[in-house]
Amino acid sequence: MEPKADIAVIGLAVMGQNLILNMNDHGFTVVAYNRTVSKVDEFLANEAKGTRVLGAHSIPEMVSLLKRPRRVMLMVKAGKAVDEFIEQLLPHLEPGDIIIDGGNSLYQDTMRRTAYVESKGLLYIGTGVSGGEEGARRGPSIMPGGSPAAWPHVKPIFQAIAAKVADGSPCCDWVGENGAGHFVKMTHNGIEYGDMQLICEAYHLMKDGLGMTPDEMHQVFAEWNKGELDSYLIEITRDILAFKDDDGAPLVDKILDTAGQKGTGKWTVIASQEMGIPITLIAEAVYSRCISAMKDERVIASQHFSGPKPRIAGDRQTFINDIRKALYASKIISYTQGYMLLRAAAQEYKWNLNYGGIALMWRGGCIIRSVFLGKIKEAFDKNPQLTSLLLDPFFKKEIKRCASSWRKVVATAVRKGIPVPAFSTALAFFDAFRSERLPANLLQAQRDYFGAHTYERVDKPRGQFFHTNWTGRGGTTSASTYTV
Ligand code: 6PG
Repeated sequence: MEPKADIAVIGLAVMGQNLILNMNDHGFTVVAYNRTVSKVDEFLANEAKGTRVLGAHSIPEMVSLLKRPRRVMLMVKAGKAVDEFIEQLLPHLEPGDIIIDGGNSLYQDTMRRTAYVESKGLLYIGTGVSGGEEGARRGPSIMPGGSPAAWPHVKPIFQAIAAKVADGSPCCDWVGENGAGHFVKMTHNGIEYGDMQLICEAYHLMKDGLGMTPDEMHQVFAEWNKGELDSYLIEITRDILAFKDDDGAPLVDKILDTAGQKGTGKWTVIASQEMGIPITLIAEAVYSRCISAMKDERVIASQHFSGPKPRIAGDRQTFINDIRKALYASKIISYTQGYMLLRAAAQEYKWNLNYGGIALMWRGGCIIRSVFLGKIKEAFDKNPQLTSLLLDPFFKKEIKRCASSWRKVVATAVRKGIPVPAFSTALAFFDAFRSERLPANLLQAQRDYFGAHTYERVDKPRGQFFHTNWTGRGGTTSASTYTV
């Protein structure tokens, strides 16, 4: 048969199927393949019925249907399966052909795979695809990185199927070389963890602190979604709170309080540790999921320890407004931290990241899409060199506007024994970040005292290191001075 397909997609789980149908809607001819080939026929007979989607029952057949350069997109589970498919594909492809990984792969794997596939004369793209099944079908956010020469060949497809913002710009653009796309997607997911945790803390305060019902909280989230917090995650929270189980009771109350996670949040924290960037809020969000998963231990501990009565006195609506501002301020900190990580990664891996462009990619289609990201885009449009979001005039004003409510919420939560790790770590970061002087002078003295690790002095130029014989028993020899 004459090769006529624009792209092949391997992997017919829900994301793969929906991306295929989305591509089909935009006039592309897609060939579908799946390791369990019976799924191909099922897909053609059902979801893809009446479309121009083609099916292949083997990799050679799939390749034979593709126009050159061949574009093959993997929508398979991150990890081993990606490497296995690359090995299976290589003998059937030729120089200039493009392998695309659209899963949530670890960015270091994508760096390795880009180099490997390029060493075989082919091109590689590792791309983040966000928006869940609905996004994949109607318009996801797509964050591609890898071999730059591959981009012109996938750009028309990716930008056609991606979500569009109000002015029609697609939520998809080239991110950078090798693992850049997957790094940006990983950071997106870390921020997603943070946003979700912040919403859960607001819910916890309203539920236990203010004694509100799911229906009452539904109203609050509906209201919040009309203002500065307008976002997909607030919107789905609003809808979740109104959702009733078969017996008419709120379903949310019947869901076990143990969170799962697939690893991208953890990877974000690991990357931040490696680069020395304090993304404290995402870290707390990951650890909060871990604590939630220790259900049995928590049940036992709850029988040993009681805390203060959680009910918060005072005007309910005033405190709800305080929670909204605390959430908003914490969110500003979380994105500030996320962008710090992106900046550090760009430096480490020599990626030329476009920070405003990333905000635009996240503005629509993805899980963290929000009005807020439009503001971040504006901040970077005004000043592409912006080193910290906090220093952008708009966000500076907003943090100042919310600060007293934020402090009130954190202080109240602590007094009432309601855990708010993300709200409080955000505030602690803010207070540390705005401190000209921190207690690290004492810490340096301690390090020098017990290990001769040396310190710098406020009355001497930076870069000169001193050691003191604190006890009279130590010598004058210092350890080498370095910071990892
Ligand atoms: C997206 C999501 C998605 C993620 C799931 C599950 O952008 O569409 O980030 O990629 O895999 O939300 O993540 P966890 O299981 O780790 O919560």
